[in-house]
Amino acid sequence: MDKLWSKTKIGNLELPHRLAMAPMTRSRAEEDGTPGELSSLYYAQRASMGLLITEGAQPSDDGQGYLWSPGIYTDQHIKGWKKVTDAVHEAGGFMYIQLMHAGRMSHPDNTPHHRQPVAPSAIAPGVQMFTTTGMQDIPVPRELSKEEIQTTISDFRKAAAAAIEAGADGVEIHGANGYLINQFIGENSNTRTDEYGGSIENRARFAIEVTKAIIEEIGAERTGFRISPGTPLGGIQDGEQGPDLYRYLSRELAKLNLAYLHIMHLGNEELLKDIRAIWTNPLLVNRAGRALEHLSIDLEHGLADMVPVGAWSLANPDLVERLKAGTPLNEADPATFFGIGSKGYTDYPTLNEMESQKG
Ligand SMILES: Cc1cc2nc3c(=O)[nH]c(=O)nc-3n(C[C@H](O)[C@H](O)[C@H](O)COP(=O)(O)O)c2cc1C
Repeated sequence: MDKLWSKTKIGNLELPHRLAMAPMTRSRAEEDGTPGELSSLYYAQRASMGLLITEGAQPSDDGQGYLWSPGIYTDQHIKGWKKVTDAVHEAGGFMYIQLMHAGRMSHPDNTPHHRQPVAPSAIAPGVQMFTTTGMQDIPVPRELSKEEIQTTISDFRKAAAAAIEAGADGVEIHGANGYLINQFIGENSNTRTDEYGGSIENRARFAIEVTKAIIEEIGAERTGFRISPGTPLGGIQDGEQGPDLYRYLSRELAKLNLAYLHIMHLGNEELLKDIRAIWTNPLLVNRAGRALEHLSIDLEHGLADMVPVGAWSLANPDLVERLKAGTPLNEADPATFFGIGSKGYTDYPTLNEMESQKG
């Protein structure tokens, strides 16, 4: 695992090692979307990770999907996030805020304005979502007009500015896992006949325009982008053209000199190698379902420059220390992933705490 512990650079940041915390929604924000009281502690506890990528934060009312997810578009949100970034920086860490517009993966019961969700096309994802009254079918969304697409791009731009004002070291654009940007990319979620639908170039257009707007606002060296080729989350099907679309998107994004590209990788090895060849800037590969002993395999094979991990970093505030010492890890408890205060959020013990409890 030597390579894992070697220094690296993301944008202008000098990072002590190559293990990152993957973005994870925890649904513990205040009613108005301000990061909750415990969020500063949660992220600061994990500041020994080389880079913290936060849970998805919505850039607008329309962008909210899940209950109690944080926003990054009001003065209150900025004040709340500032406490988080201050705590992380004081603990010696670095933090990117993930910008996540849920698009159709939303429910009127979960948003402040209680309106019909928006999407590239009026096609429901065919899945259910947790709301205040339990699990409900996600309704058919409303198709965004071209004017509204421009407003949404501008919301992303403002959210990126807000993240920097709040002290974040950068932002990650969430283009993965079935949310708005991914809905434009997906073959079965985008049936538009204008320049935002149809061909590969057209389905990648929204992703690229959002990225360019954010770069103009905060700089490419503070902008990352996440993709999830072939991931069927939120009812998305990439279709036969999927891999070619991702090659095209990677080539276009590579021209913009971003801080990094982050792949949630499900196993199309050929595509991963192609993207690696296209992408000379830092590449983050989050390989779902790998064994702990394989953590640094993509680094060793030159396929990745950093390794983001999700569940293990959620359950182990001292993951870096534990991996270095080869000690056992706490197991993540899915029952407390979302929305239940400090339990399963800030109370996972470090090794030291476990030992002092033993007396
Ligand atoms: C509780 C939970 C919440 C997640 N929320 C997000 C999110 O907000 N944004 C995102 O891009 N991925 C999200 N993911 C996916 C993770 O970033 C990661 O890709 C996934 O957990 C696989 O990595 P792992 O096996 O290391 O956990 C979430 C995963 C979990 C477990």
